[in-house]
Amino acid sequence: MARKIGVLTSGGDCPGLNAVLRGVTRAAMALGWEVFGFEDGFEGLLPPSRSLRLDRASTAGIMHLGGTILHTTNKGHFVTKTGRRGKLQVPPGVIEKARATLAEMEISALVVIGGDGSMTTALQLFDAGLPVVGVPKTIDNDLAATSMTFGFDSAVACVAESLDRLHTTATSHRRVIVVEVMGRHAGWIALHGGLAGGADIILIPEIPFDMDRVAEAIGRRDEQGCSSTLMVVAEGAEAAHGEQIYQRQGQGEVRLGGIGEWVAAGVAKRTGKDVRTCVLGHLQRGGAPTTFDRILGTRFGVKAVELIERELWGYMVNFMGDEVGEVPIAHAVERLRRVSPESEIIRAARAVEISFGD
Ligand code: F6P
Repeated sequence: MARKIGVLTSGGDCPGLNAVLRGVTRAAMALGWEVFGFEDGFEGLLPPSRSLRLDRASTAGIMHLGGTILHTTNKGHFVTKTGRRGKLQVPPGVIEKARATLAEMEISALVVIGGDGSMTTALQLFDAGLPVVGVPKTIDNDLAATSMTFGFDSAVACVAESLDRLHTTATSHRRVIVVEVMGRHAGWIALHGGLAGGADIILIPEIPFDMDRVAEAIGRRDEQGCSSTLMVVAEGAEAAHGEQIYQRQGQGEVRLGGIGEWVAAGVAKRTGKDVRTCVLGHLQRGGAPTTFDRILGTRFGVKAVELIERELWGYMVNFMGDEVGEVPIAHAVERLRRVSPESEIIRAARAVEISFGD
């Protein structure tokens, strides 16, 4: 049997994807495998298939680059998502086309690098009998069964650096600056980025907020002689009796955004302060991966090849404690990993007088 591995990156990009591609390629080639990268996520599997040979030369000098040299998409024929419009499944005909491509190219293992949606697709391909292993990625860090995904640390670094910059201008003008960050339905980026960047108020989806409490927190700061305030608001944060704010319904997934402006208007109305909003958006997904994400990406890539050698189809690599291990993909997609309002990190944040608006 030909020793050929296929690999693809799917869903939103994030820093560290190229480190995984490099890790998979190097570890696989050392064991006598050839590696082919499919372009544009799963779409590259559809005829006429689009792939490129990955070898030492084509993966040299890419580890420090953000994004993915294979390109990616969070749309297309393979979207599986439990969205507000109900559950989407990959049509059986599409899976058969993917199977035919792998057979024709004599590929005996497929590495899927993706987030919860892509892992759900990977699981469906595995259930259809395809030899799939998963590598979790997302800046949101919301995948169950892994305590960390690469991309998250880079996104947090972006938020922290942005807060460092905004701090000086907010202080100079005695302003409130509201920074809206990504993270979808989990508050990890807001919480870690806010803590690292010295935010005064952090609003996350897991702790519904009350605008009156937010205004009180700003008032308390005034009494203490702090006339500026930095707020971090997760895009999925919700007021206690409000609704999530989103822009439009995408393919199986809502596109969040707009809560920052909403909160800023509420703060201005209640406090009379000069308030500005800064939406970090895709800046959090771009740029070079941090050293942590480069290393985790490399370890994940190497582990994925080990899973292939062991024929552990339907498994995903994960990170728990300090170890890279493996877990059935089914465990990883059964629920989202969200911030626990009672956790130690939330208590620590409260101890340093960060308000969650509750
Ligand atoms: O899941 C990663 C993520 O960056 C979310 O934090 C964000 O809500 C979403 O993707 C944005 O997606 P898009 O790139 O399609 O705008």
